Amino acid sequence: MNKLCIEGNKNLNGSVTISGSKNAALPILFMTILTEEKIKIKNVPINLTDINIALQLLVYLGVKVTYKKVLYIDPSAINIFYAPYYLIKKIRASIWILAPLLARFGKAKIFFPGGCKIGNRPIDLHLKGLIKLGATINLHNNCINASVKGRLQGKYILMEKISVGATITIMSAATLARGITVIDNAACEPEIIDIANFLNTIGANIVGAGSKKIYIKGVLKLTGGTHQVIPDRIETGTFLVAAAVSRGHIICHKTEPKHLKSVLIQLTQAGAKIKTGKDWITLDMRNKRPKALNICTSPYPGFPTDMQAQFALLNSISQGIGTITETVFENRFIYISELINMGAKIKLKNNTIICYGMPKLSSSNVFCSDLRASATLILAGCIAFGVTTVNKTYHLIRGYESFPEKLNKLGADIKTM
Ligand code: UD1
Repeated sequence: MNKLCIEGNKNLNGSVTISGSKNAALPILFMTILTEEKIKIKNVPINLTDINIALQLLVYLGVKVTYKKVLYIDPSAINIFYAPYYLIKKIRASIWILAPLLARFGKAKIFFPGGCKIGNRPIDLHLKGLIKLGATINLHNNCINASVKGRLQGKYILMEKISVGATITIMSAATLARGITVIDNAACEPEIIDIANFLNTIGANIVGAGSKKIYIKGVLKLTGGTHQVIPDRIETGTFLVAAAVSRGHIICHKTEPKHLKSVLIQLTQAGAKIKTGKDWITLDMRNKRPKALNICTSPYPGFPTDMQAQFALLNSISQGIGTITETVFENRFIYISELINMGAKIKLKNNTIICYGMPKLSSSNVFCSDLRASATLILAGCIAFGVTTVNKTYHLIRGYESFPEKLNKLGADIKTM
């Protein structure tokens, strides 16, 4: 699926079932390396290419993987401590293979990871954290060589910048370290809590995940267990925006409203009527044009950078002038020129996107640059006048399960070319 043809001018209405969180499932898959016992994981978004590549990496190491609605993982026979370039370069998440290999086997060798082109995306905080825990790290020919004699050693680690990825790396390494590790200024994302819950289920001793300070008391060995991955909050947010920009009415099932507070606040300010239940959210924007918003992205519980592009689309068709200031990644704006091609009036001033709301967008031939940009351009195609062609949509399947199909059920007209 590289190209989509979208007949626009649609209202998106109906119900959608949200998949498991990609950003929780990916690290959890790599965390299974920490144990030699069998693991069962439910609600894995199995059709995503990022998940598929993560599983290929595990299989390369010697992990046995089977899937029958639930993912069964047997990491007892890992005999390779090296991850090859052709897999590592495909996903940013592959960095999370490093810490579990190092913590359990005392050695790991991987190439520098790839991923969405949304900024420099260094991994210095991951490596500094591991060095603090006693690892020796050598960088040579684009390769990271990590080793430790005996076990890692628990330490107090103050994160100089909030990083989801580095918090996960350090938390996972510390589960098998000697003594207590404290991660100060840790990321608080719901995915961090889910990973900590998973690790605790298999015998780790982690307290405080979801707050700024995480305490990890190292144990000698982790066990097996069963875990259910949390719902994908970014997929949920994307479908809520789909209804908001198309003046529709939607119910998202199998989601977690508590994880979307900052997004729901903004959608309410845009004029949407929102209701929430235990595991559902409805949004009603019928016969209403959204009001422009002023937003600043920041780490959780702030407004997620992964919703920046979708809300730039919302501001593009809203009443008034709206701004979005991006503070997490420095180069997450490539899609803007494509929205401008569709008639949006947008200016980029440093890291602030200024949208002068237009009543309607028009069809065009547009190109996707990354995962969230792909979803945004598809939504733009659904509401624009005319037929839009969205190219390079292979990014989409990295993070959204059956996105065109789910939108078509809501009344979109999207054809794969
Ligand atoms: C994760 C998510 C991504 C989300 C991001 C922020 C996954 C697979 N990806 O990415 O969807 O947009 O969190 O919520 O879960 N940084 C450094 N050095 C490091 C690591 C990060 O300087 O070693 C910087 C980054 O360049 C960025 C900021 O810290 O400016 C935040 O990045 P981080 O939270 O680590 O994002 P990821 O874990 O890569």
